[in-house]
Amino acid sequence: MKKLLMVLMSLMLLVMAAGCGGSGEKKSAEQPKVLKVGTEPTFAPFEFQEKGSKEFVGFDMDLIRAIGKQLNMQVEIQNMGFDALIPALNAGNIDVAAAGMSITPDRQKAVDMSDPYYVSGLTIVVNKDNNAIKGLKDLEGKGIAVQIGTTGADKAAKVKGSKVKTFNTNAEVFLELKNKGVDAVIIDKPVAEYYLVQGGKDTAKLVGETMEAESYGFSVKKDSKLTPQINKALSDLKKNGEYDKIYEKWFGKKAAAK
Ligand code: ARG
Repeated sequence: MKKLLMVLMSLMLLVMAAGCGGSGEKKSAEQPKVLKVGTEPTFAPFEFQEKGSKEFVGFDMDLIRAIGKQLNMQVEIQNMGFDALIPALNAGNIDVAAAGMSITPDRQKAVDMSDPYYVSGLTIVVNKDNNAIKGLKDLEGKGIAVQIGTTGADKAAKVKGSKVKTFNTNAEVFLELKNKGVDAVIIDKPVAEYYLVQGGKDTAKLVGETMEAESYGFSVKKDSKLTPQINKALSDLKKNGEYDKIYEKWFGKKAAAK
């Protein structure tokens, strides 16, 4: 009899313990999961920090936050070097890179990239008093500043005899041009345009044609379940007008191509 009681009691304890585990699980399922986002925030108006602020702002930041909301996930953004983003994805330190990252075949070998969310291209920036450089051909043998790991860096490396200087941030890239440490910068056109509007036009100007039509996508670890989820959220945001709202906020005009 005593033995039976013991067995019954331990059974009850087991059931109670299982019950606790169950409710604990339920609780964590209700809480939104965290979406760990990596970015390199010297790329206004896509991702940047206002002077004296740690907050990440910009088109990509608003868009990834809206995607997180669609997915019922809590977005946490962290700052890292542009060339550290893909290694961080592959190491599982971040879930998504939101960094104005152009969709290229090379990157698609290393990571999955979402559907495109912005159509971009590269441009050349020179000092205002430079009348010798009018296009890519004139960059031969010249000094070019670029951000490390970018498509601008690839482009500069392909220019015959170019002396390429790579920097971690675009703040340093533009400063190097201003200080005449290089003859030109190769960078994404919307970022160059924003730089000029924000005061850069006092010393710098754009030259030549827009090069390399490139589209930006969010990067995710290869074969992650997140890629289709992000694509679905992105397409929902394009349909429900949210994407247009964010686009107009940062570019002051309607999106031509999405
Ligand atoms: N679109 C270019 C690329 O993919 C430059 C991106 C730089 N982005 C940044 N957040 N700094 O290489």
